[in-house]
Amino acid sequence: MKFDTPATTNPIDQLKVIGKPTDRVDGPLKTTGTAPYAYERHDVAPDAAYGYVVGAGIAKGRIASMDLAAARAAPGVLAIVTARNAGKLGKGDFNTAKLLGGPEIDHYHQAVALVVANTFEQARAAAQLLRIEYTRSQGRFDLAAEKDAAQMPKPNEFSGPPETKAGDFAGAYAAAPVQLDATYTTPDESHAMMEPHASVAAWKGDKLTVWTSNQMIAWGVGDVAKTLGIPKANVRLVSPFIGGGFGGKLFVRADAMLAALGARAARRPVKVALQRPLMMNNTTHRPATIQRIRIGAASDGKITAIAHEGWSGDLPGGQAETAVNQTRLLYAGANRLTATRLAVLDLPEGNAMRAPGEAPGMMALEIAMDEMAEKLGLDPVEFRVRNDTQVDPEKPERPYSQRKLIECMRTGAERFEWSKRNARPGQQREGRWLVGMGVAAAFRNNLLTKSAARVHLDNRGVVTVETDMTDIGTGTYTIIAQTAAETMGVPLQKVLVRLGDSAFPVSAGSGGQWGANNSTSGVYAACMKLREAVVKKLGIAPGDAEFSEGMVRAGDRVVPLAEAAGTNGLAAEDGIEYGDLDKKYQQSTFGAHFVEVGVDAATGEIRVRRMLAVCAAGRILNPKSARSQVIGAMTMGVGAALMEDLALDKRHGFFVNHDLAAYEVPVHADIPHQDVIFLDETDPISSPMKAKGVGELGMCGVAAAVANAVYNATGIRVREYPVTLDKLL
Ligand code: MOS
Repeated sequence: MKFDTPATTNPIDQLKVIGKPTDRVDGPLKTTGTAPYAYERHDVAPDAAYGYVVGAGIAKGRIASMDLAAARAAPGVLAIVTARNAGKLGKGDFNTAKLLGGPEIDHYHQAVALVVANTFEQARAAAQLLRIEYTRSQGRFDLAAEKDAAQMPKPNEFSGPPETKAGDFAGAYAAAPVQLDATYTTPDESHAMMEPHASVAAWKGDKLTVWTSNQMIAWGVGDVAKTLGIPKANVRLVSPFIGGGFGGKLFVRADAMLAALGARAARRPVKVALQRPLMMNNTTHRPATIQRIRIGAASDGKITAIAHEGWSGDLPGGQAETAVNQTRLLYAGANRLTATRLAVLDLPEGNAMRAPGEAPGMMALEIAMDEMAEKLGLDPVEFRVRNDTQVDPEKPERPYSQRKLIECMRTGAERFEWSKRNARPGQQREGRWLVGMGVAAAFRNNLLTKSAARVHLDNRGVVTVETDMTDIGTGTYTIIAQTAAETMGVPLQKVLVRLGDSAFPVSAGSGGQWGANNSTSGVYAACMKLREAVVKKLGIAPGDAEFSEGMVRAGDRVVPLAEAAGTNGLAAEDGIEYGDLDKKYQQSTFGAHFVEVGVDAATGEIRVRRMLAVCAAGRILNPKSARSQVIGAMTMGVGAALMEDLALDKRHGFFVNHDLAAYEVPVHADIPHQDVIFLDETDPISSPMKAKGVGELGMCGVAAAVANAVYNATGIRVREYPVTLDKLL
C-alpha cells in the first residue's frame, strides 16, 4: 500500500479497539515468567554449550601474544575463538569497530576471544587462564582536548546535513538587545537495559539460526551475513521477546557474532550473554557532547538569531551525535546557524541511545531557553509560546503536518499549577527543602519507514499476524493486535501476533520511535488486502462489505469470517510504503514537561517531587501502553538529569563504572508522582493510522525541565550534566 496522499476516513477510525487503554496481550507471559528471552531458549538448543566473552584489557594498541594452552586444557573446554582462528571475517554495516578484535585493538573491552565449554562456569573459569600480552599505543580519550581538531561528519541516513544556515546569524546576533552565549555538556551514557545482550546460535549445515535480543531483525540478518561472509538467505534471526533495548540492540553485537563462530568451532549450539561488567565498554553508548548555544532576541521576546553548535567524538569512521538538529526546527527566528562536529576518540563505540540527537540536544537547548526567558523577564512558558512556528523555520515553504506545542504548554501549565511558581529563584522554602519548578518543551521527529506484514484468517475466524517487528517492552504485540482486530472487525481475542523472526516479512523494526506508527500501518495494509481476499471469495463488490463482530456484511448477507476463510483459510501479505509527504510536510511530535523538585538546603540532595508530561503525538493507539512509554521515558530523563554518567578514565580510555551498581539509574522510589496527558490529535499526514511515536518524545526535554527546576529552587545554574549535589554546594 502506497501512502502518498493524506489519510481519509478508514476502518481504523471506528476506534472500537484502537484508542482503547488495552492491557498488554503479552502481559500474562511476562508476569508469569513464561515469555522466553534469548538466553532461556533451552527448548531450541538443549545441548547448547556456553561461551564466555573475553574483552580487551587496553583501549588502543595490539595484541602482542595470546597463549591459549592453559585455557584449552581446562575442564570442559570445547573451543576458543579468536581473530586468528576465526577465519576471514567481514564487517557489518552498522558497527564501526570489529565485533571480534585482534591483533589491532580499537577500544577497551572489545571482544578478543570466546571460550566455549560444556558449562558456563567452565567457560568462565577457563577464560581466566588466557594469557594475553598487549602493546599499548597512545589513544585519544578526552572530547574537550580533541574538540578543536573535530571535523565536519559525513552525513548518514538519519543525521541530516552537518551544517545549516539561514539569514545572517552573526549580524542579527550582534544587533540583538538581549543575548545569551552559553556552553553545556552532556556525559557519556549507557543504555543499561535489564536484559543483557544475549544469543543462542545453532548451525544446520551451512544454515545459521540465532535466537537473540535485537530491535532491528533485518539489519541484524544483513550484518551477520556480511560479517560471516555467508548469504543472507542462510541466516535466521529470532527475537520475539526483548528485555529493553534503548538503541543498544539496534545492531547485532559480539554475543550474536561470537555465538555463531563458537557454534561453528564447537560443532554444537552455543549460548553467549555479555556479562554485565563487559557491556558498557564492549557495546555502544550515547557519546558525550559539548554544545554551544547562542540566542539573540528583541525586547519583545521574539528570537531574532539562534545558533547551536555541537561536538561529540567517536572511533575513526564513526558518527556524530546530532545534538543540534532539533534547533533547526523548534523555534522561530529568521537568522540561524547549526553545526555538528566530530572528533576522533578511541573510546568504546558511540551510537544511538533513546532519541539520539534530540535527547542530549534538548538537554542543552531547553536550559538555554530558560536562561533566555529570565534575561528577557518573561515566563518560560510564555517565551516558548511567543516563538512558536507552524512552518520549518529553515524552509518556510514546509508547514508542520501538526504542531500543538502551544497547546501542550498551556495545558500543562494549567494542570501543573505553574502560576504558583515564583519566578525569582531560591525563594520557596519548605522546612529544609528549597522547592522549585521547571518547564521544557519536548520535541522529537516522526520518521516514516516502510514496514510489511503477513496475515492469515483461519476457519475458526482467528487472524494471525506475522511480521519481523519487535517488542522491546514497548507494547508492540498489543497495538498490532488492536490494529488487526479493528481492521478485520474481530475481537482482540481472535488475533494472534507473532513477531521478531526473520522468516516473517520485513518491518520497520523498533527504533527512533518509528515502530508503532510504521509497523501498525504495515499490518493495516496487509489486513486491507486480506479484506479484499475475503470479499472476492464471497463475490461481494468491494466497498459494499462491512467487517464487524467477526462477520462480513453486505446487504442482506451476513457471513462469519470463519466460514469465509474456508478449510484452508485465506492469507495476504502487504506493507506500507511512503511517498514524499514527509518532504512536503515537517512531521514531528511535541510536548511539554513540567517538573517540581526539592533541594536540601544543607546537603544539596535533589529530589524530584512531581512530574507532568503533555504530549501531542498524533493518534494514541493505546493510551495505556503509550502512557507507560512516556512514564518510562520521563524516568530515563530524570536519570539523564541527575544520575547517569559513564565515568571516563582519561588516561586509560575506559568507562570505570561499568555495571549497574556504579552506573546509577532512577528507580520507582525516586519519583513519587508522574502523570501524562495526551492531546486529542490525529495526523492524516503520518500514515493511515494517523499516529506517531511517543517513546522518545517522552524523554526529550525532561532533563532540562529538571535542571530548570533545580535552578528555580536554588538560583544555581548547572550547565554540566548530570546535575549532582556537588555542583550545588
Ligand atoms: Mo532508538 S536509540 O533508535 O532504539
